[in-house]
Amino acid sequence: MAIDLRSDTLTRPTPGMLDAMMSAAVGDDMFGEDPTVEALESRAAEMFGKEAGLYCASGTMTNQIGIRLHTTLQDEVICHKYSHIYLYESGGIASNAGVSVRLLEGERGMITAEQVEAAIQPDDIHAPVSRLVSLENTMNKGGGSCYDFDEILKIRKVCTERGLGLHLDGARLFNALVATGQAAGQYGEVFDTISICLSKGLGAPVGSVLLGTAKDIKRAKRVRKAMGGAWRQAGYIAAGGLYALENLVERLAEDHAKAQAIASVLEACDYVEEVYPCETNILIFKLTEAYSNESFLAKLKEHDVHAFGFGPQLIRFVTHYDFTDEHLERLLTVLKAI
Ligand SMILES: Cc1ncc(COP(=O)(O)O)c(C=O)c1O
Repeated sequence: MAIDLRSDTLTRPTPGMLDAMMSAAVGDDMFGEDPTVEALESRAAEMFGKEAGLYCASGTMTNQIGIRLHTTLQDEVICHKYSHIYLYESGGIASNAGVSVRLLEGERGMITAEQVEAAIQPDDIHAPVSRLVSLENTMNKGGGSCYDFDEILKIRKVCTERGLGLHLDGARLFNALVATGQAAGQYGEVFDTISICLSKGLGAPVGSVLLGTAKDIKRAKRVRKAMGGAWRQAGYIAAGGLYALENLVERLAEDHAKAQAIASVLEACDYVEEVYPCETNILIFKLTEAYSNESFLAKLKEHDVHAFGFGPQLIRFVTHYDFTDEHLERLLTVLKAI
């Protein structure tokens, strides 16, 4: 059977999740009448200590709506150059919000308060208006890296002092919480808006939730409607997300342990030049010149193992619920034999 490490979005609903979905109470959510969507939104908001939540089709949509809420034409968003909102959302920052981006560099996809402070534009008509800082935690292209919470607090301080909003792309925030022992409420206190994804490591088939103040979420609903994203009986899929929040958060630690086990084996492989630090369920490693990206991926494919290249000589593995203990054993054997 194939071992698929391309992404944690590949997971399929568990039997328990499917049961919850099939028996969900539903209604027309555009009329505000779907009890399961409402239950998901209020449960997520409650976990983070936020006033309200909005269930959307994807993490791209919750991020893009978040950016719209904070900004207007001629504004600028400050973020890392590896940010999903910049690299992988089809230029949505420009097409949805009409704003520009100030890109920062930083270790493993993360930025510091000092960099943010230095990137804020002067009050000068030549410059865009710095309006929003967006962080990503865990950082996908940084190899599932986790922010030091003290740095986040420092960034919050700069944002407050300089009048900027603070958004979090928390597509894999639960991985960060499980790996670091930080609490959801800490994030709710610090960020103005948070996007959490239910369809990554949590294993739900569809959806993300945008969290914020009741006022922000009321506006967000209008923006979502304009994007064609209002739902009808979405309770069937929201039930999968709710089930994941209640049952599948703690088990993310198993994905992290599997990624660690792979990292340890790769450290000893002569075709690996470097294994990047692995904190959560994303593992990036660099190949020696013995293989190109393509030839290594082709070699893996011969063993029915699938992964993505992540830049020159870089390979990314993502562990997830459907990557079982048996898969791990087989993968380690394959990696040692190559
Ligand atoms: C860090 C990050 N943010 C946002 C998204 C967007 O999520 P979606 O695919 O649901 O639009 C992804 C998707 O993989 C992601 O990795």
